[in-house]
Amino acid sequence: MAALVQLSGGARSMPDLPSRAEISQYHLPDEARLVGGLIERAIYTEDERRRTKELATRLVQGLQSNEAADAGVDAFMREYGFSTEEGIILMCLAEALLRIPDSATADALIADKIGSGRWEQHLGNSGSLFVNASTWGLLLTGRIVNLGKTDPSDKPTNLINKLVKGASEPVVRQALRHAMRMMGDQFILGRTIQEALKRARAEAPKGYRFSYDMLGEAAMTMPDAERYYARYLGAIEAVARVNGPLFDKHADAIFDRPSVSIKLTALHPRVEPGREELLENELLPRLLDLVRLARDNGLGLTIDAEEQDRLDILLGLFGKLLNDNEFQGWNGLGIAVQAYSKRAIPVLRWLRRLAHQTEKKIPVRLVKGAYWDSEIKWAQEQGLPDYPVFTRKLHTDVSYLACARFLLSDRDAFYAQFATHNAQTLSAIAVAGRDVDFEFQRLHGMGDALYDQVLSDQSIKQPCRIYAPVGEHEDLLAYLVRRLLENGANTSFVNRLSDEELPVDSLVADPVLRAEKERQEPAPEKRPELPRPPALFGEVRRNSLGLALSEIPARDSLLADMGAALREGFNAHPRIAGDDAAYEGSG
Ligand code: FAD
Ligand code: 2OP
Repeated sequence: MAALVQLSGGARSMPDLPSRAEISQYHLPDEARLVGGLIERAIYTEDERRRTKELATRLVQGLQSNEAADAGVDAFMREYGFSTEEGIILMCLAEALLRIPDSATADALIADKIGSGRWEQHLGNSGSLFVNASTWGLLLTGRIVNLGKTDPSDKPTNLINKLVKGASEPVVRQALRHAMRMMGDQFILGRTIQEALKRARAEAPKGYRFSYDMLGEAAMTMPDAERYYARYLGAIEAVARVNGPLFDKHADAIFDRPSVSIKLTALHPRVEPGREELLENELLPRLLDLVRLARDNGLGLTIDAEEQDRLDILLGLFGKLLNDNEFQGWNGLGIAVQAYSKRAIPVLRWLRRLAHQTEKKIPVRLVKGAYWDSEIKWAQEQGLPDYPVFTRKLHTDVSYLACARFLLSDRDAFYAQFATHNAQTLSAIAVAGRDVDFEFQRLHGMGDALYDQVLSDQSIKQPCRIYAPVGEHEDLLAYLVRRLLENGANTSFVNRLSDEELPVDSLVADPVLRAEKERQEPAPEKRPELPRPPALFGEVRRNSLGLALSEIPARDSLLADMGAALREGFNAHPRIAGDDAAYEGSG
């Protein structure tokens, strides 16, 4: 609190935040039971279902026949998947190559990852690593760079094959590095905020709004965090300069304006459970500065959602910012909520209480969640009793629609922002929210063809905001890998869209109806399910059981038990052959 007093020049009296106990109770509940309740919340009338299907079918057919879609990630996914060995190697290389400054290390890495024998085997093979890497760049940009004289009628794969015959390792390195950079460019709006603003100007006439994200996360040191903080400050000022002041004094006018998106882990190296007090002293003042600067310049500010273990910290800090008297009457502070979290509905309930208490409308960006693979692995590693996220894609889709209904049902509490590239999800929301003002959101470099249709579709009439990453390739890695995993998963909409064999009906199938049907089917054992973390090793052994120490109630209960045990006193001594009577001692 000292920091708060220092910043404002006087003590702040603020009402208490609503309790987050209910959110914690939903950390690791049984998935099947939870989904039953979500189906009830997400349920659609027959008429809504019919209209959703009509719209989704129209959008999917538009995507399938759209030549423009061939320029982006969608086309790329049609050509290559990530479930190949090449795809995995490419991801390893992407991780390292973009950051290696010197050629010798880059060559060593290529040699290590690929090996010369293996490399030979890939050359000349149209599904090869080299072809993959190089055509990525070609397909994404539609240009051919540094490939010498080419016959325009040649397919990219043939061009590459011609080129690589006899190529030396440095050539391979250059091509790979180039392809990685091209891939990076697909997802970055600009290397600097000035470049990004310039490119945004070209997109704005289509009707897009923007949220600028200065790349950077998981700061390891305070100097790193300070660097990212300075970038955010600079970005807010630059965006404000280009867009001018906000004259409209209506509280909702902020929703039309550009915004910035920030990540807590960029701004402090210790966004970890148990560090709440430290973060209140060191991170909260920084957040206050950024929010104040955004507010003063008529821009919105949204805090991204990151890992589940940081959820309570995110909510605690967000609550303090929203509750601060300094921002009374300002509706520009937003938060992202992940529908794959089993706690999504309790989080929304808490946000609704907070909105009513502070008399503000909260812009809530609803996402499905970008850390799924990691969440699953961490829960297994920690030996948690269950997972904090849904383990079936179908359940995340149902949860998303249940959360959407929740957001749309309280216009005083929320300005809903639906971030999705899935035409079925989008259509269900367009139909459910036809009488409500909200916005859609997409990521820069994804969903272009889908949203170009949405913006011109007379039946939708909702705006769309582009989340626009800004920065150098060095800071892109984590973001890029999330996009690759997301696009590459065979359950993802973008990936399924690229499967020409898949009928449109399957792409636009209603997840709520499917989940309902599955619940009525008597043989769930036919569906392969992810074992819960304790059963990870099957019959071999039980996984060691962990404690969910990210949760304050779990920590409190552990500390209480430890305190009680210490108060009781204890007697420590060795047991010999199961007999402790033979040894006299105490501790
Ligand atoms: P779909 O293909 O329909 O859904 C894919 C998603 O389903 C996966 O990402 C995952 O969440 C979920 N999923 C996949 N497999 C399973 C499974 N086996 N079990 C359960 N669930 C599964 N993400 C964040 O985490 N934080 C953010 O702050 C954030 N901001 C974003 C902002 C914008 C504008 C956009 C467009 C996205 C943002 N995302 C964020 C990323 C977002 O989470 C993914 O883009 C999104 O999950 C993809 O959903 P979809 O509806 O487009 O695609
Ligand atoms: C991510 O960084 C877009 O916030 C989302 O993956």
